Amino acid sequence: MLVDVDPQGNLSSWFMKEASQYELADVLQGKCYYEDAVVEIKAIPNLYLIPTFAIGGTLKLYSETKLSDEPFIIQDLVQSMNNDFDHIVLDLSPGLGRLERSALIASDEVISPMTPEVFGLDGLEIFIEELNKLRKNLRSNLIHEKIIINSFDNRIKQHRDILTAATDGKFDVYKIPVDPHFRKAQEAGKAPQLFKIRGRGLKPATAEAFEMLNQDIWS
Ligand SMILES: Nc1ncnc2c1ncn2[C@@H]1O[C@H](COP(=O)(O)OP(=O)(O)OP(=O)(O)O)[C@@H](O)[C@H]1O
Ligand SMILES: [Mg+2]
Repeated sequence: MLVDVDPQGNLSSWFMKEASQYELADVLQGKCYYEDAVVEIKAIPNLYLIPTFAIGGTLKLYSETKLSDEPFIIQDLVQSMNNDFDHIVLDLSPGLGRLERSALIASDEVISPMTPEVFGLDGLEIFIEELNKLRKNLRSNLIHEKIIINSFDNRIKQHRDILTAATDGKFDVYKIPVDPHFRKAQEAGKAPQLFKIRGRGLKPATAEAFEMLNQDIWS
């Protein structure tokens, strides 16, 4: 189960070209049951989505107004879905506001994707600090041990330096190479792993990176 907790709704637009009747903000506001908002991603077996649509800005509005009184609302949602799904993935925006905090409270593990830029590393440091505060204040045992460096290019020294810096921080670091397949798969509304351009799939290095990441996350 994928839950689009990013008010920009990028994850949803990857898979859906048109809005459906209900979205995450409706579920959180009690306008429908979560089951009503679930969309089955037919192209990928056993994949489901609770979408967010950026147009209308309902999730953003909700997070800026009503959410402050309900920090555990996403935790409640996750608990109600727990019996029906093996894995629940919450996709967040890069910020660390109320909405992201309430998603972190609801999670067992957080995985940080970043691009190999210096400010990416700065952002990671700030995130780690904030996470420590959150753990302490809420007595949470949230695990944070995996970092994904996306669009990694081994030929670029800065990328290698950032990899070293992240690895030194005692993280398991996963590199995903730049691969034009992502953009094309996105345009086609398909998962990159399943998408073929003239019979060809992902670059072997990208496929290998996905394989490693999947094994480690789901095992
Ligand atoms: N490894 C890659 N190689 C090439 N293009 C990529 C790669 N990863 C992502 N992209 C492209 O970059 C764009 C942004 O990717 P994505 O939506 O994963 O970013 P994001 O980290 O979720 O961004 P945000 O932090 O704003 O939510 C997409 O159009 C996607 O197709
Ligand atoms: Mg995103």
